[in-house]
Parts: sequence; structure tokens; C-alpha cells
Amino acid sequence: MRLRDCPADSAELRRAFGCFPSGVTAVCAFVDGNPVGMAASSFTPVSIDPPLVSICVQTGSATWPRLRSRPRLGLSVLAESHTDAAMSLSRKFGDRFDGVAWADLPNGGVFVAGASAWWDCRIHAEVPAGDHIIVLLEICAPDADPDRPPLIFHASRFRRLAMMDQERP
Ligand SMILES: Cc1cc2nc3c(=O)[nH]c(=O)nc-3n(C[C@H](O)[C@H](O)[C@H](O)COP(=O)(O)O)c2cc1C
Repeated sequence: MRLRDCPADSAELRRAFGCFPSGVTAVCAFVDGNPVGMAASSFTPVSIDPPLVSICVQTGSATWPRLRSRPRLGLSVLAESHTDAAMSLSRKFGDRFDGVAWADLPNGGVFVAGASAWWDCRIHAEVPAGDHIIVLLEICAPDADPDRPPLIFHASRFRRLAMMDQERP
């Protein structure tokens, strides 16, 4: 194993970060009468009490300023059937919800139908972090279907979970 003591370029960093597998979430809300949202794989559970999770949003995001103006946001953990939805919810042009089944709450949160988990959230804090903002979200109402397998994102590709034959940790 050899390590070079020099700053990595952004492509190299992306490739290295991509070695860490993640799920894919969608953060969505009703804005001006339409569903608005974005795919985010940077989701991390943060705290149980109070219940907090985080996502990281690019500082240049055009969607985040619209979402952050809403009192509540819907956070959906996408299921393995949601590869097309994940791509659609990240597209730069056109209707991101075209072909994506969704549901909304009276308070304005929007959820992707058939998700593995879906949480009604409000913004707890935003922390600038380089070219991203760490967004801490407080979970107001959680719901989940742990039997619905999640979508996995690794090395810029979508994957499925596979069960290993071993005892629980
Ligand atoms: C699988 C996947 C994961 C993504 N994760 C993030 C993320 O964690 N944070 C982020 O800011 N953008 C993420 N994006 C990109 C956004 O979904 C979106 O394309 C980007 O914010 C540009 O659109 P905007 O300017 O409307 O925000 C992801 C895209 C894909 C396909």
C-alpha cells in the first residue's frame, strides 16, 4: 500500500469516496403547487435523542434553496426498484417527478411511493462544509418497511443488497 502526500484532484476524490457504499434518499416537498425534490446519497443517521439525520447538499444546488424554504420536508429511503426514480430525481432539466409515483402530506412533505422508509422532517441546522452544506434534519414522524430492500449506490453505480450467511453481529 503506497500513499502519496499530496492533495488529490476532484476526480480522484470522487473515485475514492465512491468506494464507500450508501443508500439513496430523496428529499422532497410541495413548492408553489408542485412537487420539488432531489436525490441524495449523502444521508447519515446522526442522533436518536433528538432524532436527527443529515444530508450534504452542494452549495451550487438550485433545488435546495427552494426546499429549505418549506416548513417540512419528506425524506424517502429509495427501494431497489427505484433506480429510474433516483436518476429522474437528479436530472438537471425537465420534470423530475415524471414517472415517479409520490404522495404528499398536508404539511407539505412529499414522499416517493414504495420507499423502504419515509420520514416527515424539519430543518434543525445547516452547517457550511467546503463545497457542501451539511443539513441536519429533525425527524418529526418516522415510518419504515424494513422488508423492502433499499437501493445501494457504490462506485457511481446502483446495486442490490445480498444477504451473507452469518450470524447477526
Ligand atoms: C445517486 C445520486 C446521489 C446524489 N446525492 C447527492 C447528494 O448527496 N448531495 C447533493 O447535493 N447532490 C446529490 N446528487 C445530485 C442531485 O440529485 C442533483 O442532481 C443536484 O443537486 C443538481 O441539481 P440541483 O441544482 O437542482 O440541485 C445525487 C445524484 C444521484 C444520482
